[in-house]
Amino acid sequence: MPTRPLIIDCDPGIDDAIALLLAFASPEFEILGITTVAGNVPLPFTQSNARKICELANRREVRVYAGCPRPMMRVMETAERVHGKTGLQGATLPEPEMPLQPQHGVEFLISTLMQASEPITVATLGPLTNLAIALIQEPGIIPKIQEVVIMGGAASQGNVTASAEFNFYADPHAASVVFTSGLPLTMIGLDVTHTVLTTPERLEQIRAIATPVAHQSANMLATYGTHDVEKFGMPGSPLHDPCVIAYLLQPDLFVGKSLYVAIETQSELTFGKSVVDLWGSHGQPANAQVILQANAAGFYQLLLERLASL
Ligand code: BDR
Ligand code: CA
Repeated sequence: MPTRPLIIDCDPGIDDAIALLLAFASPEFEILGITTVAGNVPLPFTQSNARKICELANRREVRVYAGCPRPMMRVMETAERVHGKTGLQGATLPEPEMPLQPQHGVEFLISTLMQASEPITVATLGPLTNLAIALIQEPGIIPKIQEVVIMGGAASQGNVTASAEFNFYADPHAASVVFTSGLPLTMIGLDVTHTVLTTPERLEQIRAIATPVAHQSANMLATYGTHDVEKFGMPGSPLHDPCVIAYLLQPDLFVGKSLYVAIETQSELTFGKSVVDLWGSHGQPANAQVILQANAAGFYQLLLERLASL
């Protein structure tokens, strides 16, 4: 089976961790590397957490790079209230033994893309700082990217402020660089991820797989659930980042529309909002496929099957 070359840029983060596990469980991908960024927790945690998850899945050969330690312009904001102080609250994982790669994450992105003989897919699960800096430093990477699938934003609502989603709020200037780059983008935002809920029944199905991976996943998801269930009054916590990997595996689980999206970087009130022009009001050409619906049952079936294979 031909595999799809993939770079995953992330800020683990509990849902990032589940996304990495879903990718590791999927032979459809050739994972060229994982780049990490400051986001849910500071960079020393996100790079270490990525390596912990590689080791949990017995994927010590995967190369992990540390990227940018802060957003492009704004002051860093993290999300320990959701993911805990370490970013992987609920998990009991040893300090990683596999090395952190010496190259900077942005340098890895640029050198890997520039040397690629076939276009590479980039999955982004955190603030877009690394990709934005790579685009500024070397625009020659643009034709080397097959597509970028982004967890971030929303047409409808925010989860940090009333209008902004965390990944875009954490670095709106970077998000703006990416959305004005001309790259083929797919945006999977809160409109969709707030329908992909880890209900108590689904959590028990994950736990019932009864492997070390499933055990750690269920323990992380149990604590991660508390914040979102309380804040949003939903019957489970949204599994944001794994939607990106599921989309790459099974795009028919999702429905999207090509639309114009701009990122607000000026307004204090709506800082970081993704302005999604659902009705073509701005007369601008579409710059992203915005995912608006997901088949949550199909998503959890895929996740359960794949997690059980690890
Ligand atoms: C996004 O923010 C982070 O907390 C999650 O990992 C996800 O990437 C959801 O808004
Ligand atoms: Ca994330």
